Amino acid sequence: MEKKFNRTLVTAALPYANGGVHIGHLAGVYVPADIYVRYLRLKGEDVLYICGSDEHGVPVTIRARKEGCTPQEVVDRYNRIIKDSFEEFGISFDVFGRTTSETHRKTASDFFRKLYDKGEFVEQESEQYYDEEAKTFLADRYITGECPHCHAEGAYGDQCEKCGTALSPEELINPKSTVSGSVPVMKKTKHWYLPLDKHQQWLEPWITKDHTEWRSNVMGQCKSWFDMGLKPRAVSRDLDWGIPVPVEGADGKVLYVWFDAPIGYISNTKDLRPDDWELWWKSPDTRLVHFIGKDNIVFHCIVFPAMLKAEGSYILPDNVPANEFLNLEDDKISTSRGWAVWLHEYLKELPGKQDVLRYVLTANAPETKDNNFTWKDFQARNNNELVAVYGNFVNRALQLTKKYYDGIVPACGELNDTDRATIDEFKNVKADAEPWKVIKTDPERVKTIINLSLQLVANLAIAFEPFLPFSSAKLKEMLAVEGLSWASLGATDLLPAGHKIGEPALLFEKIEDSVVEAQVAKLQQCKKEMAEAAYKAEPVKSDIAFSDFEKLDIRVGTVLSCERVPKMKKLLKFEIADGLENRTIVSGIAMHYEPEALVGKQVCFIANLPPREFKGGLVSQGMILSAVNCDGTLSVITPERKVAAGSSVC
Ligand code: MF3
Ligand code: ZN
Repeated sequence: MEKKFNRTLVTAALPYANGGVHIGHLAGVYVPADIYVRYLRLKGEDVLYICGSDEHGVPVTIRARKEGCTPQEVVDRYNRIIKDSFEEFGISFDVFGRTTSETHRKTASDFFRKLYDKGEFVEQESEQYYDEEAKTFLADRYITGECPHCHAEGAYGDQCEKCGTALSPEELINPKSTVSGSVPVMKKTKHWYLPLDKHQQWLEPWITKDHTEWRSNVMGQCKSWFDMGLKPRAVSRDLDWGIPVPVEGADGKVLYVWFDAPIGYISNTKDLRPDDWELWWKSPDTRLVHFIGKDNIVFHCIVFPAMLKAEGSYILPDNVPANEFLNLEDDKISTSRGWAVWLHEYLKELPGKQDVLRYVLTANAPETKDNNFTWKDFQARNNNELVAVYGNFVNRALQLTKKYYDGIVPACGELNDTDRATIDEFKNVKADAEPWKVIKTDPERVKTIINLSLQLVANLAIAFEPFLPFSSAKLKEMLAVEGLSWASLGATDLLPAGHKIGEPALLFEKIEDSVVEAQVAKLQQCKKEMAEAAYKAEPVKSDIAFSDFEKLDIRVGTVLSCERVPKMKKLLKFEIADGLENRTIVSGIAMHYEPEALVGKQVCFIANLPPREFKGGLVSQGMILSAVNCDGTLSVITPERKVAAGSSVC
């Protein structure tokens, strides 16, 4: 049964405000959603395009800690950068809000409270991974380890990206906190859970029977979740950054970022339309569409709908188009490795080329499979398609109008078969009737050719508007026309005879090799810098003789106790069981570890150094070995399996 909708509410995934937006985000979410919205607007439909920044969650706190500033400062900065770059890029949101706004805090808080009062949550004590060094419970994404299914290293606590299996952190083999690099421990805590297992009853038929039209990648992921059986999901976290859980006895707990963020779609709509936002969220004749990347599928197809249903007064999404990922120069986009093209940098470095990037990301959209962006392809598509085909046709039509008719649209004469075919199917336009030759033999005929060409140009301005809004605007200016609705598409009288066009200018410009070469070089440079950072901290030393190495007596010891040294900010004092007797070692790693976290651990140390005396008579009998991370953090070297204290390292 075809549903009748009277308006469309389009949401685009709220980007995390802990970094910029890159081409992968654009290709996956914002450009396709923008095309859809612009198309609906051109058709005169009632549509709202909602977005904003996602400002809570652990990543923000980590970034803040790294940069030595507050989480609020981090999100203020990135909210600005993201908002401005989207705007300059022509992503036509009706609102770009924030999840730290007062409207949002109240909306999310009330939403939670309503579900709580309705008894929609299950309260449960559980053991969760805790990072003792960073003194924080760990979000699933911040625990990595070996995948229990495919045994790949570096699987995340919520998913293995190698084999795609969804995981929970306890399943990881050899889990490690990515916050501090330490091995997390289990710690008791109370949380509120959304019982997705109960919701499966209606969720499964709603998606697999009522929404067979959803994309196969989306459907596939949903089905695999259903097949495994949905489990209750915690919607609160132990964290000091977020929206406080609005119930008694929830001190130190905040709403899980994935609980509050999608509610951001609602609160941003409220800010935009304070008087009739409910029409957009609660009326069954509103079509709700979520544009997202494939890593967001479960949250938008399962978790958020369950929240909306539990609340009781909201509509559910009609569709959730999710794209696959975009690779960059045959390598996975990685913000930590600096392997990305950032929108705010693109806009600066290739000014005025918004439509070129929009075009390339659309032509090469990762709709059904992961796709690849290369600067060479970017250049080729610009030069061979935008410049040589579209731009060239437009330029000829306009220049010849100026040259032959003083910029006045000539009257259209009698149409021949080619003209008609062209009009019927102007995508096959072969209007290259070479008027500059015909003008010598049949000037009357040229009027018709030019008139039709101009009508085609005007049609292209309409048809391409959702995809290439900047060029369409420029084109309309050159044609000296305004408006041009979707309904008029196909008309051959968009520019009446006698209409005076404006000044022709090039629609697109050729991109020289040097421009794309500079971009590739920049990427390579980033990669190199990342690799070099590790060395920069510690330059490569000159070669030594093997016999020199053999002189070092490196041993494993077990930490019996560890404490801070009064008045010495950087020092930790260790008692180490070294196999013979105990020894004291002083190490400058106090900025990187809480002393308690090291007790019981095994460390490697140099055993045959002369004793070293510190201020106050403190003597160190050896040196503990640590790895220096590229960001300067230290991580003690520990044997991969427990060994007897005193074992030598060779
Ligand atoms: N910030 C999330 C991401 O980038 C997306 C949040 S979408 C929302 O993956 F629905 F939660 F808002
Ligand atoms: Zn795996």
